[in-house]
Amino acid sequence: VTIDLVLVGFGNVAKRFVTLLAERDATLRRDYGAAVRIVGIATKRHGQIFSTRGVDPGAFATASAPRETNRPLTSVEFIRRATRASRAAARQGRLVVVETTTLDIRRGEPAIAHVRTALAGGAHVVTANKGPAAFAHRALARAATQAGRRFLFEGAVMDGIPIFNLVRETLTAVNVAGFRGIVNSTTNFILTGMEQGQSFESALLEMQARGIAEADPSLDVDGWDAAAKTAAMANVFLGAAITPQDVQREGVTPAAAARAQTARASGRRLKLVASAAREGRRVRARVALEELEASDLLAGVEGQQNAVILRTDLLDEIAIVQQGGGLTHTAYALLSDLLTIVRGASRRPPRAAPRGRSL
Ligand SMILES: NC(=O)c1ccc[n+]([C@@H]2O[C@H](COP(=O)([O-])OP(=O)(O)OC[C@H]3O[C@@H](n4cnc5c(N)ncnc54)[C@H](OP(=O)(O)O)[C@@H]3O)[C@@H](O)[C@H]2O)c1
Repeated sequence: VTIDLVLVGFGNVAKRFVTLLAERDATLRRDYGAAVRIVGIATKRHGQIFSTRGVDPGAFATASAPRETNRPLTSVEFIRRATRASRAAARQGRLVVVETTTLDIRRGEPAIAHVRTALAGGAHVVTANKGPAAFAHRALARAATQAGRRFLFEGAVMDGIPIFNLVRETLTAVNVAGFRGIVNSTTNFILTGMEQGQSFESALLEMQARGIAEADPSLDVDGWDAAAKTAAMANVFLGAAITPQDVQREGVTPAAAARAQTARASGRRLKLVASAAREGRRVRARVALEELEASDLLAGVEGQQNAVILRTDLLDEIAIVQQGGGLTHTAYALLSDLLTIVRGASRRPPRAAPRGRSL
């Protein structure tokens, strides 16, 4: 089967995804019988390109001047036209929109509209953007079900570490009652550094130099990134319908240095903990600085590490620890979501059971 991809957003993550597809091409063909073809790319300021016969992402990435179709379409209109032009692939369930635009922390747009439009056009959607799951998971999951297509977002939390996959594919029939975690590398790195006397500014600069923190780090240090991930996990694991604005939120400031050092001196650790739990019929979610006992698993999560502990009804607590993230991890998340779709597409309906015969 040939899977046609429309890339909406073509920045760091999407470019690494494209090279990863090439690196894993033989595996895709051999193990999944799948070939992948990119038929469209849309960016905000670097042009758009589309052809049902396939486009060359390498040439698109390296062309010096921004390219535009006669008149650049809005990204939503681009998706509408791309899915319409690819209607045969859409009908056969082999059209996938890969959404990697930037996170808008106020409303999650236009990513939500991208997902909605793609599903309406018969495409599956995979995204690394936290916005859709953090702001509109319930509505988008319903739209996907109604369309008979997948809406997957493994890369939204802990990059490629399979947390959504784990719960969806493996923990079937297990109920998640809540979770706690450290889900933002920049703030965890700053807190770990400040405990040891490093200044807030120098720890932040180090994270920016390593490409982990943005030039504008406010999404990280103000706790918004963690709040978006918390909302996404609460929506998916706990069936909530909250947004990042509903998450009680605290960030990390230079003033936390003294608290981090005092905690450390008494054998405790100051961490920015993301958590959510059911309280009656409601879900309470928060991102807050907490002083953790040394015996707490999260207390040992250092520097760029992340971790999430799921509290479940049948398996008690399950912890996943990520040593470090990065573009390859996030690109892998998109690939693993794509393979979930490919596996679903190749799954044949079970053969009819032989008719029972009575004696
Ligand atoms: N970087 C990571 O390690 C990482 C990890 C986990 C999740 N993520 C998430 O993955 C997504 C992509 O991250 P990135 O690092 O690749 O970002 P990036 O390098 O800034 O790329 C973003 C891309 O989206 C395009 N874009 C923005 N708004 C658009 C719109 N309205 N319509 C069409 N295209 C639009 C940009 O266009 P231009 O090229 O014209 O600017 C750019 O190509 C983000 O949501 C991020 O939060 C990233």
